[in-house]
Amino acid sequence: MYIETYGCQMNMADTEIVLSIMHDAGFVRTDFLSSADVALINTCAVRENAEQRIVGRLGDFNHYRKSNPNVVIGVLGCMAERVRRNLMVSEDFVDLIVGPDEYRKLPALVEAAMEGEKGIAVKLSRVEKYDDIIPLRTDDLSAWISIMRGCDKFCTFCVVPFTRGRERSRSQANVLKEVEEVAQRGFKEVTLLGQNVNSYWDGTYDFPDLLAATANVDQSLRIRFMTSHPQNMSDKLIGTIASRTNICNYIHLPVQSGSDRILKLMNRTYTADHYLNLVRRIKEAIPEISLSTDIITGFPTETEEDHKQTLDLLQAVEYDGAYTFKYSPRENTKAWSMGDDVPEEVKNRRLSEVIDIQRNISLQRNRTMVGQTVEVLVEGPSKKSAADFCGRTDTNKMVVFPKNGDAVGDYIGIHIERANSATLFGTQEHIFHQPPAFITRES
Ligand code: 5AD
Ligand code: SF4
Repeated sequence: MYIETYGCQMNMADTEIVLSIMHDAGFVRTDFLSSADVALINTCAVRENAEQRIVGRLGDFNHYRKSNPNVVIGVLGCMAERVRRNLMVSEDFVDLIVGPDEYRKLPALVEAAMEGEKGIAVKLSRVEKYDDIIPLRTDDLSAWISIMRGCDKFCTFCVVPFTRGRERSRSQANVLKEVEEVAQRGFKEVTLLGQNVNSYWDGTYDFPDLLAATANVDQSLRIRFMTSHPQNMSDKLIGTIASRTNICNYIHLPVQSGSDRILKLMNRTYTADHYLNLVRRIKEAIPEISLSTDIITGFPTETEEDHKQTLDLLQAVEYDGAYTFKYSPRENTKAWSMGDDVPEEVKNRRLSEVIDIQRNISLQRNRTMVGQTVEVLVEGPSKKSAADFCGRTDTNKMVVFPKNGDAVGDYIGIHIERANSATLFGTQEHIFHQPPAFITRES
């Protein structure tokens, strides 16, 4: 079987669950579509252009069928859940449609499809957490760990509550078992995943409890998490991040807009002021914190004044990075009925203004690192140059440096010599044999 993954980290984690389920049923993974008997695509439905890309890629899968007429083509994930049977009508070569809560049925559905029977399974569940399934990891340094599924926030632009269903949390004990397993296998980093990790609640423990317990499993493991909703970001959580050296000083804290009027229409449940206060509290408690955000431009009725308030908020927060999107109407969401009245060229112009301002802020932030020595976990060869390695700081900044005997998975000290808005560049100072956070912050 061959599988391709689109969209968010939750989907990457789900792909590893799918790989595990299929592996247990006897399917062997290939990295090449050209040698697959089963070709799966794990999809994203969050924006129209994501879906268009997937439809394009499905065309390639169909083309491959010419050389392997028996190949089973399956669509998994959020787009499968959203478009359902209609996807088999528009793309009539698709054999399988399987939503995020139905992956246990995949082997049986694939076997049936091999006999020529098309299959569809898109029921959402209130209980499915895939708790008993050990993901088949696709990386050996960094592990994704889903701590919950679904979302109950119902931001009015977002299709996720419809494609991933109601929010449900795994038990802390179960998550910790998975963390212990990856720590024992020598992983260096875990990322706890959920659409809104701050509302994690297993009946006894909340997210700060889980985060602290995860950090205790192995001090040499870097702990990351995403995504945080500003509404549930408690002082307890901020305190937990501040007090643990191996919890990374990086928070992805999507704001979406800087205008209170738009935030209300989005059902984000906070004001720009509330958000800025939160950022202030975070920065006070964790001065070295790195923050990133998501911004949507061109939400229905967004005016120039609303847009300007978003630009002002970017300046006020000084994020290290931002993921920026043009509003894309999604059927069934509340915002769908608000129309899509901001013209495409206005959305584009506002988007580039957001990007330009943020690029400049990121550049300024990164330049303050020049001259400092930072701790980097070596991830592998740099994409751009064979002579270089790359890795990330605990604040999630990408660092590129000349190869110098260091190995993937080492923590090393890099002296930063220059920076652009996306990357820091430097040279190696020394190798740490323990996670350097220990050495530098506690001594
Ligand atoms: N249009 C544009 N961006 C969207 N996002 C979610 N739904 C939409 C939409 N309909 C963005 C939000 C969210 C991120 C994952 O995707 O910014 O935080
Ligand atoms: Fe979508 Fe809002 Fe839930 Fe995030 S918190 S997945 S944007 S509904």
